[in-house]
Amino acid sequence: MRPESIRKYRPFPAVSLPDRTWPDQTLIEAPRWCSVDLRDGNQSLPIPMSVEEKIEMFDLLVRVGFKEIEVGFPSASETEFHFLRRLIEENRIPEDVTVQVLVQAREHLIKRSFEALRGAKQAIVHLYNSTSPLQRKVTFHDASKEEIKKIAVEGTKLVKSMVAEIPETKITLQYSPESFSDTELGFSLEVCEAVMKEWGATSQNPIILNLPATVEWFTPNVHADQIEWFCRQISQRDAVVISLHTHNDRGTGVAATELGLMAGADRVEGTLFGNGERTGNLDIVVVALNMNSHGVATGLDFSDLTSIREVYERTTRMTVPDRQPYSGELVFTAFSGSHQDAIKKGLDRRAQERGATSEGVPWGVPYLTIDPEDVGRSYEAIIRINSQSGKGGVAYILDREHGFNLPKAMHPLVGQKIYGEADEQGRELSSDEVGAAFKAHFVNLETPLKLGEYLIKQQSPGQMTSVAKLFRGEESIEIEGTGNGPINALVEALEKEGLKDFHLQDYRSHAVQHGSCADAAAYVQLKSDDGKLVWGVGVDPSIELAGVKALVSAWNLLH
Ligand code: KIV
Ligand code: ZN
Repeated sequence: MRPESIRKYRPFPAVSLPDRTWPDQTLIEAPRWCSVDLRDGNQSLPIPMSVEEKIEMFDLLVRVGFKEIEVGFPSASETEFHFLRRLIEENRIPEDVTVQVLVQAREHLIKRSFEALRGAKQAIVHLYNSTSPLQRKVTFHDASKEEIKKIAVEGTKLVKSMVAEIPETKITLQYSPESFSDTELGFSLEVCEAVMKEWGATSQNPIILNLPATVEWFTPNVHADQIEWFCRQISQRDAVVISLHTHNDRGTGVAATELGLMAGADRVEGTLFGNGERTGNLDIVVVALNMNSHGVATGLDFSDLTSIREVYERTTRMTVPDRQPYSGELVFTAFSGSHQDAIKKGLDRRAQERGATSEGVPWGVPYLTIDPEDVGRSYEAIIRINSQSGKGGVAYILDREHGFNLPKAMHPLVGQKIYGEADEQGRELSSDEVGAAFKAHFVNLETPLKLGEYLIKQQSPGQMTSVAKLFRGEESIEIEGTGNGPINALVEALEKEGLKDFHLQDYRSHAVQHGSCADAAAYVQLKSDDGKLVWGVGVDPSIELAGVKALVSAWNLLH
């Protein structure tokens, strides 16, 4: 910003709480969760969800495990009214799920909300009015504190009077001093105490006091101070459920919620992937998975995050950014070579440790806070290859996804070829492209020399003769040689034909463990007289023939 712009802004006052206790707390227990996807989330969509889309979202939220779901503002729109009626009339609300409806403290709106709720087994009526000095001045035309408190108390009285109208429904009251984040703490407390008293909250029938960071004005520690202050000051703590509802204007909605929980809150409102007004509401997926990653169960199941994201993106027409924690496309992908190397080593080490013990092995893979499999992602997607990738990345892909366990000495050479390809294309290569490039450069090469018919005969123990037909362009050559194995026999055959201008340096083979593939892979390293080193690869159902093909591939690479 320009200096003259910066002068418009003021520091935000801190909370005086020198004996704050929240910094010493750890999160060892999950809060109650409430999804506000169908209200705050939906209300902020450029194209709001249709009733059918809302039903699909509601079913998704139930599947994820939410027990409290704000289903909308039924008094504010006919669509929201009919959506709630459909949920109730079509018996779509599971026994253990409570729907929540938002309503302003106004008589006709409260009455309409109760009409919408008729027939529900239980419901939370969420009453709110704005309390901050800014809102009192601007929105309520310089209303006094008393006038604002009166709106809240009158609204509560009305809700209370309506409860008898639907006796078959158990009603819980939730009150939000909207804009709590920039309301004087003492005044928020005063309004909440008045609402609580009017409602008659008890430990058996507690009220939910939702303390929203309607706008995130300050750093998350200030939010935590506000919440701890409020929890300590409220008169009947056991008759109150303290709920958090953060927004993300400064990009710290998740941090504010986590610190708010450490400060004593019991409940969290948020949305999938942080959808919501402006920069969004709290991303509940992140807070829940952060807890899981510290060994805390949450009651929410994000093990199939990809399909949850698919429903979300389709019904809201929003997209989840590539870097969104846990759910973004690229969050389990390492591009840097050293990271790829460390991840491969971590995964290999973990596989070994898991093989050696039946006990659960604690997660510990460099750069990955959780096992991607726990959110339905696969290791295969972890490493992609671009020209910045290290040799470990290519070896990892070839091993995990194509079944080639390359000799270590071959890694740099293969790496060079594949990165060269990525460089040429000017983009990253997919796993399939890496496999294809590897095959094109190293496997079963047929020019200038092509292997035709091939026969191996056992002469005596440890003595074999190989007879091979080779093609060089139009020319065909028959060669025969003897050795203690097929490779040596072929080397001798090539020598007799004047084709041996190399030294055999290394040979190894293994079965290819990949899908239903029952091939063998062989690797041959040759050195030319002038010191050039090459590796060739052969793949064939027969391990002997794989070796022979590897030798021919290597010969071709040398010529
Ligand atoms: O952000 C907010 O303050 C709200 C209230 C209605 C709880 O959405
Ligand atoms: Zn909100």
